[in-house]
Amino acid sequence: MKAAVVGTGYVGLVTGVILADLGIHTLCVDKDQAKLKILRAGRSPIYEPGLEEIQKKVMEKRLLNFTDSIAEAASYADVIFIAVGTPMDADGSADLAAVKAVAREIGKGISSYTVVVDKSTVPVGTGKAVQEILLEECGDSALFDVVSCPEFLREGSAVEDTLHPDRIVIGASSEKAAEMVKRLYASIETEFLLTDLPSAELIKYASNCFLACKISYINMISRFCEAQGGCVEDVAKGMGLDSRIGGQFLKAGLGWGGSCFPKDVSALIWMGKELGMDVSLLDAAVQINEDQPQHCLRRLSEATGGLAGKKVALWGLSFKPNTDDVRDAKSLELIKGLREMGAEIYGTDPIAIEAVQALHPDVTYLEDPLATAADADAVVLVTEWPEYAGIELNELSSVMKGNVFFDGRRQFTKAEAIEAGLVYLTIGQSN
Ligand SMILES: NC(=O)c1ccc[n+]([C@@H]2O[C@H](COP(=O)([O-])OP(=O)(O)OC[C@H]3O[C@@H](n4cnc5c(N)ncnc54)[C@H](O)[C@@H]3O)[C@@H](O)[C@H]2O)c1
Repeated sequence: MKAAVVGTGYVGLVTGVILADLGIHTLCVDKDQAKLKILRAGRSPIYEPGLEEIQKKVMEKRLLNFTDSIAEAASYADVIFIAVGTPMDADGSADLAAVKAVAREIGKGISSYTVVVDKSTVPVGTGKAVQEILLEECGDSALFDVVSCPEFLREGSAVEDTLHPDRIVIGASSEKAAEMVKRLYASIETEFLLTDLPSAELIKYASNCFLACKISYINMISRFCEAQGGCVEDVAKGMGLDSRIGGQFLKAGLGWGGSCFPKDVSALIWMGKELGMDVSLLDAAVQINEDQPQHCLRRLSEATGGLAGKKVALWGLSFKPNTDDVRDAKSLELIKGLREMGAEIYGTDPIAIEAVQALHPDVTYLEDPLATAADADAVVLVTEWPEYAGIELNELSSVMKGNVFFDGRRQFTKAEAIEAGLVYLTIGQSN
């Protein structure tokens, strides 16, 4: 069996590289010529731990190739994955233009039975729409089946997550198609959940929205700790030890961002509203999330006596550690807010400087976090890169002009910050 993957982003490239590593001849497609040039040279255009090494290995074994032609991929593969972006549209819904355009090209190129697998995150009904497009283009429903196989990998550990997933969901209306997809992943030990198309499509949104709500919930609880005493980390630990709750995604912080949660929550809200449903639970999760960086800015402003003309350093610009992805990163909201408040902004990140610089060229970027903190009035730890947890707070305090340290990801303790002469602000603990 041969596979093809359309879209070589965080999901598509990892999927293609791992399928090849499982011994399946795989052809990856992208329309971005600059990306293809990097990929054909054996390098990865995205930062993802461990990915480039496996990519090189499977390319040397001739198991993985790249093309810009969807038609070529459609005639090459028995199973073709769609892994293009589904960003947030202006009205909050999922923009399906890329998925539909790719489906149309696949339909034109199919000449023998092919399973078309949707890996992009798409609303219920998209699989059916893809079926209709394929039929329009190839004219024979016996030539294809459509499957939904939502992706649950996390950027920063995408290779590990793909090799050791908690589950693989396969939503299909045809048993033959489901079995073919299952066979591709035969050497992966995990639970395979076979469902119909709509259930598989909804599982992805239901999962991401649940996790986003869990984070917003603990961030709401963090405000109680700030107002009444207590430490949100201990509260979260006490909650998480309850097996009905579980400890993951109970980390209070600056809120959820990234390429998936904001757009997926927004898309489910949009779908619910279209159906006339009450989605106020999700609305509240968004509202709490949007206020987290604003809350940080209010507290910073209070602690510094107003941010106008103050120098503020932001540590960590990517939306989470171990990725260069800055889509909907909290750093971007903080930069916007700090600029509006008249602050002078410095930023640092181990790998995401370039991506943020393209969006905010007016910020001063330096590679060394302590250099960004030199003469700063305040420092905000935005993304919990492990590099920052190792910084000596005494050293930080000695280079700063002011002494306000906002630990947005609870990487240090209040006691050690005070010991270093800093005013320690964090989420879920009183000043
Ligand atoms: N990034 C994640 O962590 C993650 C996790 C799970 C699910 N998802 C979902 O997977 C999908 C892809 O996400 P991503 O982060 O990999 O996106 P991405 O933006 O990183 O990559 C998309 C790629 O598709 C290519 N592309 C777009 N239109 C094309 C076309 N017509 N022909 C060929 N190539 C085309 C783009 O050039 C780009 O390289 C989205 O629906 C997303 O919600 C993402």
